Amino acid sequence: MKILILGDVFGRPGRNILQKQLAQIINQNDIDFTIINGENASGGNGLTIKNAKELLSLPIDAITMGNHVWHQKELLDAIDDYPQIIRPLNYPDPCPGKGFQIFHHLNKRIGIINLSGQIFMPNLSCPFNLIKPLMNDIKNSADIIIIDFHAEATSEKIAFGYYMDGFATAVYGTHTHVQTADERLLPQGTAYITDIGMTGPLDGVIGVDKEIIIESMLTKRPKRFVTAKGNVQINGIILEIGETDNKVIAITRVYETYEVQS
Ligand SMILES: [Fe+2]
Ligand SMILES: [Fe+2]
Repeated sequence: MKILILGDVFGRPGRNILQKQLAQIINQNDIDFTIINGENASGGNGLTIKNAKELLSLPIDAITMGNHVWHQKELLDAIDDYPQIIRPLNYPDPCPGKGFQIFHHLNKRIGIINLSGQIFMPNLSCPFNLIKPLMNDIKNSADIIIIDFHAEATSEKIAFGYYMDGFATAVYGTHTHVQTADERLLPQGTAYITDIGMTGPLDGVIGVDKEIIIESMLTKRPKRFVTAKGNVQINGIILEIGETDNKVIAITRVYETYEVQS
């Protein structure tokens, strides 16, 4: 089985490039299942229902989220109607939505977990201690376990990757919007990459108009963020998973750029 996973889809440029290119990427790479991170899909902040429907009308099977999950408040009321959308598991109870979902696909149970880190992130419960007592049940309920670890600090991400080694099929980072080049199989066979990058504007500052961010850096004053225009990128990974042992044979980075006339 081949699973395509794309990093944080940012605003209209991210959604538009998926409309144009996703089907082709899936066909060219014989992809069976597609996961995207959707926490920035609506104007860079959260996910509206309209945009969720738009993305799910594409060949996208699951959408993971992150710290921006509740920035479009309508998702709070609607998330339970969309089992394809997975929010970080470490939000306190009661919280709508789920942080772990199982998808039945090609006779496999694909378990997808979304977890937030703690370093330079919202004050949520510890992902290490949260997942520890759940690991047995998760292992018994899924053939393939995929974890989107949404975090800022490379140290926390690498430590979590090692902590999950041999338990998860793959652990990949999201949130920084910058792809790292450290994809590999860890000693016990778990596929790992610190960050898969972003799907959206190429010529901005992690998705936002660069002039706004430079001015904000110069003046030390907050400015209203506007999505960057121009060229775009699609960032992510492809996992090739063995049919019999459900282990990753290969983890390959996707880093495509496209010219857009603005
Ligand atoms: Fe993000
Ligand atoms: Fe984030």
